[in-house]
Amino acid sequence: MTIERILVIGAGTMGRQIAMSCALGGYTTILQDISEQALAAARTELEGWAASRVAKGKLSQDESDRALGLLTQSTDLASSAAQADLVIEAAVERLDIKEQIFAQLGQAAPAHAILATNSSTLPSSRIAAASGRPELVCNMHFFNPALVMKCVEVVRNEQTSDATVEAVTAVAKRLAKQPVLVNKEIPGFIANRMMGAINREALDLAAAGVASIEDIDTTARTALGHPMGPFELMDLVGLDVVDFIAQATFEETGLEADKPHALIVEKVQAGKLGRKSGEGFYPYKG
Ligand code: 3HC
Repeated sequence: MTIERILVIGAGTMGRQIAMSCALGGYTTILQDISEQALAAARTELEGWAASRVAKGKLSQDESDRALGLLTQSTDLASSAAQADLVIEAAVERLDIKEQIFAQLGQAAPAHAILATNSSTLPSSRIAAASGRPELVCNMHFFNPALVMKCVEVVRNEQTSDATVEAVTAVAKRLAKQPVLVNKEIPGFIANRMMGAINREALDLAAAGVASIEDIDTTARTALGHPMGPFELMDLVGLDVVDFIAQATFEETGLEADKPHALIVEKVQAGKLGRKSGEGFYPYKG
């Protein structure tokens, strides 16, 4: 299965950086979104990112020009899908919307095209049937910031073919990522389950007044060697996303421990979503 052309659906935080990773990997890449504004914002961010990499000497001008040249944008899903060997869907985390997208892709994408979802919460078996090609469907889960984080969780569902897993794994390697294979559709896969456990402990320690959020973060960085403390990381991921992941996990497991933590619910209700809203556990400027 040769993959040369990739369509990334959704120009949000994840989709735009996944698309740029694909272009840097030498793939002809289309970034598709229903919003012109989101596409324009994505282009501006990616051009800025590439320029700063060139300025730092970490990317040559030629590599930057080549990647930005391979990356085009579109608001038209059907015509973009018709050109794709692999689709990576990174749209909003709503089952009904993903079902619609996968049904459209089933019609519009070439018969050989693999349809992957970046979803961290929805197992691909939920949307595979809508596509009419379940053997070509899996999760391909990237991490934020996707241009930096190496891991890609490749999650197979019961119908995913070995050829699909192999092809998606090969793409992740060509993006200079580190693919890991998740053999069972467990809620949260590997990374979000471990992150959920750390977050839960950190939130409980803060809620019990054991230590300040600053000191809990400092401990994670300086005692455990984590690059960021759990509160800094939740602010980066987005507290609405943390809330959504916990809720989705709870709905699957029914375990009280997986329920969104009261401190997260409080922040989300106050509109404090982390970096993207200017305030979460910490304030952010600009
Ligand atoms: N976009 C693109 N590049 C970024 C970036 C961003 N948002 N943030 C940082 N970078 C780049 C910088 O440009 C810099 O590149 P360089 O080394 O080539 O100059 C490099 O990352 C390091 O950045 P900084 O020096 O500014 O800061 P740090 O050394 O603290 O690194 C970090 C920042 C990479 C975000 C690091 O703190 C980190 O790894 N944090 C943990 C992130 C993490 O755990 N992510 C997973 C979240 S869970 C998830 O995504 C799952 C989902 O389902 C919710």
